[in-house]
Amino acid sequence: MGTAADYTEKIPNNVDLHTDRRLARALESWQPNFLTWWSSMGPTLPTQDVYLRTAVNVGREGWAHFGHVAMRDYRWGIFLAERDRDRRIGFGAHMGEPVWQKVPGEYRAELQRLIVIQGDTEPASVEQQRNLGATAPSLYDLRNLFQVNVEEGRHLWAMVYLLHAYFGRDGREEAEALLHRNSGSEDAPRILGAFNEETPDWLSFFMFTYFTDRDGKYQLGTLKESAFDPLSRTCEFMLKEEAHHMFVGTTGIDRVVERTAQVMREHDTDEVVGHGAIPLDVIQRYLNFHYSVSLDLFGGETSTNVANYFSAGLKGRWSEDRRKDDHRLTDDGMLVDTVTEDGEIGQTEVAALTGLNTDLRREYISDCENGVVRWNRVLAEADLPQRLRLPHVAFNRKVGVFAGIETSPSGERLSTQEWTERKDTWLPTDVDKSYVRSLMRPVYERGKIASWIAPPRNGINGKPFDYDYVNLP
Ligand SMILES: [Fe+2]
Ligand SMILES: [Fe+2]
Repeated sequence: MGTAADYTEKIPNNVDLHTDRRLARALESWQPNFLTWWSSMGPTLPTQDVYLRTAVNVGREGWAHFGHVAMRDYRWGIFLAERDRDRRIGFGAHMGEPVWQKVPGEYRAELQRLIVIQGDTEPASVEQQRNLGATAPSLYDLRNLFQVNVEEGRHLWAMVYLLHAYFGRDGREEAEALLHRNSGSEDAPRILGAFNEETPDWLSFFMFTYFTDRDGKYQLGTLKESAFDPLSRTCEFMLKEEAHHMFVGTTGIDRVVERTAQVMREHDTDEVVGHGAIPLDVIQRYLNFHYSVSLDLFGGETSTNVANYFSAGLKGRWSEDRRKDDHRLTDDGMLVDTVTEDGEIGQTEVAALTGLNTDLRREYISDCENGVVRWNRVLAEADLPQRLRLPHVAFNRKVGVFAGIETSPSGERLSTQEWTERKDTWLPTDVDKSYVRSLMRPVYERGKIASWIAPPRNGINGKPFDYDYVNLP
């Protein structure tokens, strides 16, 4: 199989879809349902065309093509990273055996479940972000939003391909259900909590792409290790696209902080509201919220399901091959967070296998720290003493051992009453949200930018900031 995508087919792909007419027909019959979902649940802003990248190759160089396309004509396709014919299972009970090209019967239900859960998040974020096009701070940002949206749509295709190709009738039904569930719906919500939250403004969007998309990066990283090779190869390529989503979040928050710091310096005040910037304490509260709901996505501190996924070879650890242990973990222990009988935050030793959620969450947390370091550098460079910080892991949690307790962002235990009295200083208030919303006015003139955010350092694909990234009707 080559690595270049075949764009002559109805569904662009590098999986030789033309050799399997049955599968091609099944996917072609899902395609119109996807397009109906895209036009009813996708971006609401009408556009003429958008400067988008489209995957054309999965190789190291030149995997993407950039050009102006009408969004409804975007070529969503199926792309798997190149196959390594010598690849062997890197962990668990089957370690050292050749990877699987088919789904082993005994793991079928678990693998399908893992794919459905991952697949469900992809269209969910498109739904959450659908109205943001009405209020983008610049054409550059508008283009980035749409790029993220079309790629999340493609990630849905990636998971649907696996369901159709390897899970028979059950897989096809699950593929339908992925379009049927909707973010925030009462009757058929998305599977995971954070994907039913609104993304009502652009500060939330940047926080979402920084913190919540980053959870996706870590989940994909564990699935990339999978012994089920098609899943591994799909995730490997998705991670490539995901890097841009992280970039949008990281630099988005950079630019918000930069603008706020500028205004604080210029007017020698923390009160930036009158000057159309977002106060640092509001940014901190948004950060607290998005970080804590994203921590919940990693599940409980311990999980026997995840231990089984690992032992079976379905899902590895982040950077599995860089770990210096036996990759089986059958005799190892680790410390995980706990709440002691007298209600204190502590640690307890568990079997390393059952603590794998904690292991992944810790990898994620240390990655999140990098963002905070970056944003604080912006503040330091502006000679400002204020700093942003990640709240304590126990803060505002709804999943795991900390769901039953309340703490301050520094991890100090609070009674329910103290929490109720003080939570408005730590989580976005209605006043914060309506202020942020009041700033959300579209700026669609080329080269112009809203008051609350600094322009980007660089444009996209070497183009200048004032490029026509989006043409409106
Ligand atoms: Fe994605
Ligand atoms: Fe993403």
